[in-house]
Order: sequence, then C-alpha cells, then structure tokens
Amino acid sequence: MYARRLKGISLSRIRKMFEVEGEDIINLGIGEPDFEIPEDSKKAIIDALEEGFTHYTPNKGIPELREAIAKKLKSDNNIKRDPDDIIVTVGASEALYMCAQALIDKKDEVLIPDPGFLSYNACVKLAEGKPIPIPLEGKNFRTNPETIESLIGKNTKAIILNSPSNPTGAVTEKDDIKAIAELAEEKNLIIISDEVYEKIIYEKKHYSPGQFTENAIIINGFSKTYAMTGLRIGYITAPREVIEELLKIHQYNTACAPSISQAAALSALKGPQRVVDHMVAEFRRRRNLMHKRLNNMGIECNKPGGAFYMFPYVGDEAKFTEKALEEGVVVVPGSAFGYNGKDHVRFSYATSYDKIKEAMDRIENITDVIPIG
Ligand SMILES: Cc1ncc(COP(=O)(O)O)c(C=O)c1O
Repeated sequence: MYARRLKGISLSRIRKMFEVEGEDIINLGIGEPDFEIPEDSKKAIIDALEEGFTHYTPNKGIPELREAIAKKLKSDNNIKRDPDDIIVTVGASEALYMCAQALIDKKDEVLIPDPGFLSYNACVKLAEGKPIPIPLEGKNFRTNPETIESLIGKNTKAIILNSPSNPTGAVTEKDDIKAIAELAEEKNLIIISDEVYEKIIYEKKHYSPGQFTENAIIINGFSKTYAMTGLRIGYITAPREVIEELLKIHQYNTACAPSISQAAALSALKGPQRVVDHMVAEFRRRRNLMHKRLNNMGIECNKPGGAFYMFPYVGDEAKFTEKALEEGVVVVPGSAFGYNGKDHVRFSYATSYDKIKEAMDRIENITDVIPIG
C-alpha cells in the first residue's frame, strides 16, 4: 500500500525520548535550547501580525532577510553570496530534504557522519540513495579526511558534514575542513554542510567548507542560535545554478517559509547578539558541570567544543538508558545515531543547571550497578 521508499525508514527514537514526561523526570534527551526567542523577535512577530504580514512571501524568502543572511555569510564565514543565491527554508530540516531530492538519484552514495543526526540517513533513503557511514574517530569524534577519501567510490555524489556535531558536540578543525573541501573539488563531489550549531561553540572557532570551495552547499538556521525551533525557519545557500534547482523542490513543497517567522528571523539577525552570547555562556557553564561530574563518576568523556550534547561511552547502552530512566533521567541511546554510536548515550545539557546537578546525582546511583568503561 505504501511507497517502497518508505521501507527502512523508521520514526525518530529521539522524538520518543522527547515525549517522556512525568513529575519527577529530568529529560536530558532534549535537542532544543531551553531559552526564549529574543525580545525584539517577539515584537517583530506582533508587528507583523498587526500589519497583516500574513500572506505568501517570495518563494526564496523576503529580500530583506536574504540580504541580512548574505551579510552574515560574508562577515562571519567569509563566504560571498548574492541574496539571490539564498533560499529561506522551513527549518534546516527542509533544506536537508531539498538537497537530497534535488541532488540524489537511485544508487547515488552519500557519505554521512556516524554517529550523526538522524535526518541525514532518512533524507538520503527517501531520495532512494545509499547512505554510507563515515565512522567518526577517537574520543574527539574526528571527521578524518583520509577516512572520507577511503570511502569515495564511483557512485559517491555528496558528503554531509556537521560541525559542531549532533550528537557528539565535536567541532571539526580548520585543517580537516580544508582537506575535505579540497578532496571534494578533486573528486568533483558536493559537500552539504549542516552548520546549525555554528554559534553554540566554546573554545574553538567555526570553519565552513564554503570558505574553501565553491562545491559547498551551506545549511544553517535560526532554531538553535535564537531558540526558535517552533518557528521553523532556516536557510540554504549554494552557487546560483544549484539554487535554481533546489528552488524547484522548495516551490512545489512549501512555496515559502512562514511570513511571520521570517520577520522574527530578520529581527534576530539585525538585533544585538547579546542574547546568543548569554545563552552560550550558560551552556558553557552547564557543559563544564556535566563534564566534571561524568568524569568523576567514571564515565569518561572529552569536553565537547560545541552544540549542547555529550556523547560518552557507557558500556551497555540499553541497560544504561533503562537504569537511568528508573532513576527518572531520560537519555538517548547512542545507536539511535548510527552503528558507531553503539554503547554510548547522548546527554543534552539544554536544561537548567540545577536539574543537571540533580540528574548527575541520580546517574551516580546507577554507575554502581553498571560497570562502565
Ligand atoms: C544537526 C542538526 N541539523 C538540523 C537540525 C534541524 O533543525 P531545524 O529546526 O532548523 O529544522 C537539527 C535539529 O535538531 C540538528 O541537530
């Protein structure tokens, strides 16, 4: 009854963890910032409503927002793109789906990080392509250009990169990004770079492959940086000829991103970035706490450089997840993110400092019963 392409696609196991609720439950399975959208963006939404800005916008998005994004790409990433080389999307999620639909044919192979964000695998499969896992290496979950090179075959079409990473929090080093960009040029492959956690970064600096090659499609969004997950707003930029093809998918799928969310996004980009700094400072404080507590109880992990996740090895992930839940703490089993996530769990610190403290006290109780390491 259902299309063959849906075979092998399952609903996200993370969503299930999201929905676990209860009075005494501390949910460390959450994948969204627990902050409010900037005050200016709230006001922009109200103004937009009052001004009747509730109709279709141009397919690519309102020009002012695309101009602001072009400016941001130039100043933050040193990527020079015209506003017409940008499409405003319904979250980064739509941008990922668009890429897969516009670029992948049956039998095309796409290299995806493993462990990695679930949508990569699903989007490639929905386009009837073949996801090929890039095993991330070592305690720092490195995306090694040599590993990528060894996986490239005659059917390889694209490489998906994600730095800072969900679920590992790893930040890819400049030299690795550059080497992968050069590899993509040499082998004539497309890089799809998911940079939604760009601003949630601590000691390190973010580098985009778009700085080093024209072969890169850059995906970014407002969900994480401005805590706007529910407004569903993101963007994609690529060389003009690619954008015109991507636009076909966008136009017939969503027509345009929500007008009101575009107004909120514009205001967020143009407004003071103090809100982001404040959020990142708080994430850093929580990361430091969680890192210290986990290591002290024998759950060894390196300090991740970005995003709001930790992804330590815990031995038997099913047992750990179950025992944690018995203590009232929700975590996500690592194999939800791919084969190489096995026997790890993802802890999110997108919850309050005090709750993280309490959750760590509870996790400490189960480390006695589960031998770790
Ligand atoms: C790596 C990564 N990319 C993309 C997304 C989707 O973001 P959006 O809300 O913009 O669709 C997420 C959300 O969790 C993510 O973790």
